[in-house]
This record gives sequence, C-alpha cells and structure tokens, in this order.
Amino acid sequence: MRTVAIVGAGLMGHGIALVFALGGHAVRITDARPETLAAVPALIGSALETLREGGLVEAAWTAERVAAAVRLCPTLAEAVAGADLVIEAITEKPDLKQTVFAELDRLCPAGVALASNTSYLDIFPLIPARRQERALVLHWYTPPYIVDLVDVVPGPQTDPALLDEMREMVIGLGQVPIVLKRFIPGYVANRIQSAISAEVYRLLDEGVATPREIDDAVIHGLSLRIPVLGHLAKADFTSLELQRQALLNASYEPPPPRTRSETLDALCAEGRTGVMAGRGFFDWGGREPAELFRDRDRRLIALKKAMRDIGPLTGT
Ligand SMILES: NC(=O)c1ccc[n+]([C@@H]2O[C@H](COP(=O)([O-])OP(=O)(O)OC[C@H]3O[C@@H](n4cnc5c(N)ncnc54)[C@H](O)[C@@H]3O)[C@@H](O)[C@H]2O)c1
Repeated sequence: MRTVAIVGAGLMGHGIALVFALGGHAVRITDARPETLAAVPALIGSALETLREGGLVEAAWTAERVAAAVRLCPTLAEAVAGADLVIEAITEKPDLKQTVFAELDRLCPAGVALASNTSYLDIFPLIPARRQERALVLHWYTPPYIVDLVDVVPGPQTDPALLDEMREMVIGLGQVPIVLKRFIPGYVANRIQSAISAEVYRLLDEGVATPREIDDAVIHGLSLRIPVLGHLAKADFTSLELQRQALLNASYEPPPPRTRSETLDALCAEGRTGVMAGRGFFDWGGREPAELFRDRDRRLIALKKAMRDIGPLTGT
C-alpha cells in the first residue's frame, strides 16, 4: 500500500483519487479552492455508485470505506506529509504547475516520486533539477475510474527503475499502462485523437458532412473494429499491402495544421459549448448534465464489460 497525494481535486483529481482508493492505497487530496475540495466526497460517491451499478466494484467497497481511504487536506503540506507518490493534477497552466513543483521540492523528502497528469505540457523543465530522477508523467483519461489507459512518460533524466515501479503500480490498479520512450505532447491516444479532430473540423467547415453523419461514420464504421483489434492489428487483417497503397494514394491529403474551426467558433459564439450548456453540436433535450454524464458512464461500463468478455484479438 502506498500513500498517494493528489494535488488538484477537479475533474481528473477526484477521479484519480477514486482509482487509488479502490486499488487499496491511502489517498490524500488537496485543492486551492476549498469548495472544490469539499465537493470531492459527493463526486466520488456518485462515481462509486455508477461503478457499483455497473458491477465494476465489489459490494465491500461502500461509500464509507472509500471516504475513509481518501483524506481531504486543506493545505499542500498536509496532503504530502508521509506520501511516497505525489500526483499533480492542477489547471493546465505552466506557471501554476512550476510554482506547485517548487513547493513540492520544499515539502517532500528526496525519495518521493513526483508525477504530473498534464495532457500536453512538457512538464520536465518546470520541475526542479534535483527532482528529475524521480519525476515522470502519469496521465489518465476521463473518467479515470472507467478508462483504463495510463501513459507512463519519462523525462530526460527519469530513473528507469521508477518507470518499472510505476508500470507495476498501474497494473496493480487494474489499469493498462503504456511506457513511452520519451516525452511527446499528447502521448499516443491524444495525438491520434487530434488527427481525427483535424479531419472532422475540415469536413464540418467545408460542409461535406453534418455532425450527425460524422458521428454515424465514427460509431457505425470506424468504432466497431477498434475495441477488438486496435488500429495496427486491424491493418494486419486488411493487409499491409493495402496500407502501402493507401499511403501512396495521392488523392487523400491530410488536413494542414489549423488553429481554429469556423464551425466551432460559430457554435461557441452562440453559447453552444456542449453538454454543460445543454447544446453543442447536438441538442441535449434539456437533460441535466449530471444525468447525461451518468448515462454516458453506464454505456461506457456496459461496453467495457462486453470488451472484457470478448477480449482483444492480438498477435505478439
Ligand atoms: N479534463 C481532462 O479530460 C483531462 C484528461 C487528462 C489529463 N488532464 C490534465 O489534468 C490536469 C487537470 O485537469 P482537470 O480537467 O482536472 O482540470 P480542473 O480545472 O477540473 O481541475 C484543476 C484543479 O486544480 C486546482 N488548482 C489550481 N491551482 C492549484 C494549486 N496551485 N494547488 C492546488 N490546486 C490547484 C483548481 O482549483 C481545480 O480544481 C491538467 O493538467 C489537464 O491537462 C485533463
């Protein structure tokens, strides 16, 4: 059992806290905003309820037992006292993260591992030099208690033994680590997602397809094979010769890098920012965001259970 301190109790922080609690670890969590910290027990309770309903946690994991494993700490010093792993999950702003890592350097003994959940920032220049050997990225996906992938990413000086240790820890949490050779912004899954987004915004901005049609193509065309085969095993099944031809085929050009989409700008200008606003690309029929998130999570859990039953078809 580890003692894990989580800094930042927002969308990711509270979810990561639940993952570690269910993994049998002692968790301390803190946030700069007292009201965010105070909301943690209710958010964790609701996530636990969803997991229990979906049969992903044993009945022995009562709300009380989880609450006892996750201690709310009003200060950073209290959160990190006695911790052997600290996970930074604060707002994605370099100056804020740099300040937190300077504080952690002051508060934590030398052997403590310092991890960041950053999505895109190169965190390593923001961490004090003498901490580099015990610093790494541990990157979860949302919601972390349902999506199993965890990116384990070294900086230029990270001790390989720490990577092995963290990989084992993630496996012990019942999740799926991938250990990258070096830091690249967005890691693997987010980079693939960014490439998909660039194409989707081109199709929307050029009026080639509607949001419904694009999501129909993703759900009914792209998606079905991915949970069973991933991307590269799918290529093995379709033949690598065909893949070579696809690369040679000059009729398809990937979209150039873009920094904005007219469709996205227009929707945001109308206040159509997504589920939290009731409308985004789609109209969510006046349903409360909390209900929609639960509905999403129920479906994700059902799919995850089906995927576990079916199992991936992988070579070696
Ligand atoms: N949202 C996602 O889908 C997602 C997925 C993976 C990784 N991430 C990464 O995780 C990190 C957190 O993202 P989030 O979506 O949970 O953000 P969030 O805004 O929901 O939560 C961030 C929290 O950090 C707190 N905070 C800010 N400065 C602080 C400080 N100095 N000390 C303590 N707490 C502080 C804020 O009060 C806030 O509650 C970011 O680095 C983000 O890139 C996000």
